[in-house]
Amino acid sequence: MTTLENRTHALAMTSEAEVTAVREVLLAAGLLGETVRYTFFAPEEPTKDEVLGGGETDRRFRVVLLDIATGRSWDVVVSVSSSSVVGSRELDPPRDGQPPIIDTEFEMIEDILNAAPEWLAALASRGIEPASVRAVPLSAGVYDYPDEAGRRIVRAFGFRQDHAKDHPWAHPIDGLVAYVDLTARSVDRVVDTGAVPVPETTGNFDDPEVQGPPLELKPIEITQPEGRSFTVEDGRVRWGRWDLRIGFNEREGLTLHQIAFDDRPICYRASVAEMVVPYADPAPVRFWQNYFDCGEYMFARYADSLQLGCDCLGDILYTDAVVADDLGNPRTIQNAICMHEEDYGVAWKHSDMFTGSRETRRQRRLVISFFTPIGNYDYGFYWYLYLDGTIELECKATGIVFTSGTPGEYATEIAPGLGAPFHQHLFSARLDMTVDGPRNAVEEVEAARVPIGEQNPYGNAFRRSVTRLSRESDAQRDANAATARVWHIVNPEKRNALGQEVGYVLHPTGQPTLLADGASSIAGRATFATKALWVTRYAHDQRYPAGDFVNQNPGGAGLPAWVQADRPVDGEDIVVWHTFGLTHFPRPEDWPVMPVDYTGFVLKPAGFFDRNPALDVPATTAKHCH
Ligand code: CO
Repeated sequence: MTTLENRTHALAMTSEAEVTAVREVLLAAGLLGETVRYTFFAPEEPTKDEVLGGGETDRRFRVVLLDIATGRSWDVVVSVSSSSVVGSRELDPPRDGQPPIIDTEFEMIEDILNAAPEWLAALASRGIEPASVRAVPLSAGVYDYPDEAGRRIVRAFGFRQDHAKDHPWAHPIDGLVAYVDLTARSVDRVVDTGAVPVPETTGNFDDPEVQGPPLELKPIEITQPEGRSFTVEDGRVRWGRWDLRIGFNEREGLTLHQIAFDDRPICYRASVAEMVVPYADPAPVRFWQNYFDCGEYMFARYADSLQLGCDCLGDILYTDAVVADDLGNPRTIQNAICMHEEDYGVAWKHSDMFTGSRETRRQRRLVISFFTPIGNYDYGFYWYLYLDGTIELECKATGIVFTSGTPGEYATEIAPGLGAPFHQHLFSARLDMTVDGPRNAVEEVEAARVPIGEQNPYGNAFRRSVTRLSRESDAQRDANAATARVWHIVNPEKRNALGQEVGYVLHPTGQPTLLADGASSIAGRATFATKALWVTRYAHDQRYPAGDFVNQNPGGAGLPAWVQADRPVDGEDIVVWHTFGLTHFPRPEDWPVMPVDYTGFVLKPAGFFDRNPALDVPATTAKHCH
């Protein structure tokens, strides 16, 4: 039996020994047959009460197993502390959905296609050699194909790859899609709407045809001669007045825990709990394209091992992350999480005309980040903590846009003959807020015009409109950039020196939520993405806003199900769910690789402090300031 030394905090990062121990428990319980694969592995965190109570907790892990020979699947919780299975349930796929798509299935998809006469005939009619075709298993969604219910289905496009280093995304084979049964390892049907020319543009970044000699740039080096001003000890990060823990799992990637400033709690747990990329092209071969990169692909299992000087610049502290592979063996992602300080320009400044004083303080932020590729895209998640109490999440989208061979009304022609269908990247941040304590409330605050009249004779007035959200049914809100709409998360039991409820304010970017029709399949499966804000009462098992099992889930799971209870949220233990993202009308400049696009949100203190909390930032010494 594997021994588990150094058991530390209840939220400590997963160790290789723990992954191995989980596998041994599952083996002993007879749950790991020859054809059984892990589709999900993550720490099963103790409840909030247990963590905050600070006592000994069980180290538990949740594993979703799939028998790839039969399609049967189980949701299992293992206690490593007691070396036992503490819960096991067989999934009912038509109702629950399917386990996520795994590496084993990425590996088998081309063989399945190449054994299907219909697929081979479609390629032959286009004059394409099957050996040159790359394919990936794309999540199927749920559409009106009754014969697909309960079966493990993916859909696959072909892309032609001209040589081993050729980016196939440049050469989509359009008018053709295969529906594949992963359990039977067979092609269910081939939809062939007729051959269209395969785009012949190059997608290779270093192709001499598209690129001249490299630009000459002098190096930039960032140094901290006296070292970093933060410490990390067993996952606990301390920097300035900030104090928090970091965690990592393959579904959400980086998680932040127990974020506090000056020993005052702000957020118990913060993560990106889901994301979806719905595409806009209604063409018969691609209307179904919607990828939930968290819930359907567990995308953080592919997180990059970051490289100093390339991915991260400065005095970096890296942390490894441990995940499980399809067979349940530990896999360590070296340098998965990057932490460093960044100079961020001026924090505050004033030159006074009466006193002659000149004061400047520099802003600095602590950056905690990871990057993960998933298929054609690459996503970076960057949490920033600032000296003035601000928390920010910045998501970076880069990589290669999904392509088609038929640019038209729903796509941009980004290179000759090459289409990039319109789409969105919609993220759901789960923010378990604890602003100065567990009981919080949310107020919608926005600007309101005041008509000219007796109280406003010159018409200059505008005021602030404040609406307290009382129940889950009225805490489903849209953003409105035109009125500077924000959401204050306040603690009704704690007041600042001015007698105001202490709070943090969530600033949305105000970009569109889900643009698909409300009657569409995707609106039913990604209902979280139809609203910019949801507030729910905290419940330990309510973690994923589109449900626990998203792949082929018929819809209605997660947020839309939970809020049926219409629980009160004013002065309760609440969770704030924020949808944000990009609506992407690709540009020619996004080809052959997309310059980073940004989205995210900001949480700023609003009456949490009595005055500017960055007054104590020291002036830069004269040595560095002339
Ligand atoms: Co995009």
